[in-house]
Amino acid sequence: MIRINENFTKLKASYLFSDIAKRVTAYTAAHPDKPLIRLGIGDVTEPLPPACVAALHAATDEMASRDTFKGYGPEQGYPFLREAIAAHDYAARGCPIEPNEIFVSDGAKCDSGNIQEIFGPDIRLAIPDPVYPVYVDTNVMAGRTGPNIDDRYQGITYLECTPANGYVPAIPSTPADLIYLCFPNNPTGAVATREQLAAWVTYAREHRAIILYDSAYEAFIRDPQIPRSIYEIPGAREVAIEFRSFSKIAGFTGTRCAYTVVPKSLQAYDSSGAPHSVHALWNRRHTTKFNGVAYPIQRAAAAIYSEEGQAQTRALTDFYLGNAKLIREAITALGLPCIGGDNAPYIWINTGTDSWAFFDKLLNEAQVVCTPGAGFGKCGEGHVRISAFNSRANVETALTRIAAALKNR
Ligand code: MLT
Repeated sequence: MIRINENFTKLKASYLFSDIAKRVTAYTAAHPDKPLIRLGIGDVTEPLPPACVAALHAATDEMASRDTFKGYGPEQGYPFLREAIAAHDYAARGCPIEPNEIFVSDGAKCDSGNIQEIFGPDIRLAIPDPVYPVYVDTNVMAGRTGPNIDDRYQGITYLECTPANGYVPAIPSTPADLIYLCFPNNPTGAVATREQLAAWVTYAREHRAIILYDSAYEAFIRDPQIPRSIYEIPGAREVAIEFRSFSKIAGFTGTRCAYTVVPKSLQAYDSSGAPHSVHALWNRRHTTKFNGVAYPIQRAAAAIYSEEGQAQTRALTDFYLGNAKLIREAITALGLPCIGGDNAPYIWINTGTDSWAFFDKLLNEAQVVCTPGAGFGKCGEGHVRISAFNSRANVETALTRIAAALKNR
C-alpha cells in the first residue's frame, strides 16, 4: 500500500494565497457587477521594462536560427548574467561575491523553499512570525517540525515581530542553526539597520549557524543607510545565503528569473563535526534537480543592468513606492497605525481586529482585496497587508473605497 508523506498532513489545508484566491473567485462569481481591486498578493501590474523586452525579442530571434540556437544552458546560469549580477549588485556595493557564487533560478520562492533540503533533518530552526509562509511550510513538509498546536508548529523557534519591537525580531535565547530573515520584510515592509544585521551575523558566526537572507525586495530601499545585501556586513560571507529576485524590480513575476548567492566560504557540518562546502552541496542539488532558466529570459534579466535598464527599473520601483506612499498616508489619515511602504512595497496595518474579518470587510464593502495578517502567522493576527502593486488609478480608487468602508467603524 502506497503511503503519503504524513508531514503534509500537518500543513494548513491550502497555501495562503490559494485560500485568498478561492474567496476572491467566490465573491466575483456572486457579484459579477462589482469589480475588485487586488492589493493582496504582491503581483506586479506594470509591463516589462522596454530594455528587457528588446533583449527578450533579440534572444528569441537567436533561438530561431541554427547558428545562434541554444539548447541546455549551464544549470547555474549563463556567465553574462552571473557576471552582471556580481558586478552591479555586489562589487559596486563593496560586497565580495564572485560570479560563480551566484545560482540563477526561476524564483526566490523555489530557492528559499528548496534550500532546506541540503541541511540535516534535526537542525534547529528560527523563523520570524509573521512570515512568508514558504519558509515554514517547506520545513514542515521535510519533517522538521511537530504538529501545529495553537497556530504554532512544535519545534520551531518563532522570532516574534510585533509593534513593541518595531516588527524587527530580537535574537532568540534558544539556540538556532538555520535562521530565516527577510528584509525589506514580507509581509511587514520593515527594514533592518546595519547594526541589527551585524548582530545576527555575529550570532551566526558564534554558533556556526546559517542565515537565509531573503532580500527579494531590496530594490525598494531608498534610505542609503539601510543595507541592501547581507554581504554588506563584514563576516557575512561565512554565514549567509542570500535570495534575490527580478520579479518585483522588473515585473518578472510571470517571466520568472531570480538568483541565490551561496559563498564558497560557507560551511556546514556532518555528524562527526567535519565541515562541508555548502556551495558544493547546493551545486549538487541544483544540477541534479534544475535545468536552468530559459536563455531569452536570462538575456531579458541581464538587460536590467544596462544603462537604460537601470533607469527603467528605477522608474518602476519609484512608481510602486509612489503607490505605497499614497496607501500609507491614507491609512494613517484613517487613524490606523501602519509600517512599511517607504523602503518596501508592502504596508502592514495594525487594525487591532480579527484579520480575516477585516479582510472580509474590505472585500465586501470596498471591493478591495488585501492579505489577512493571520495568514502569515500568529503574530500577524490583528493586522492586514496591503500591497502597492497596482496601477495608480486602481490604488486611488481603492483608497477612496476603503475610506468610505471604514468611516463608521
Ligand atoms: C506575496 O504576495 O507575498 C508575494 O507575491 C509572494 C511571492 O513573491 O511569492
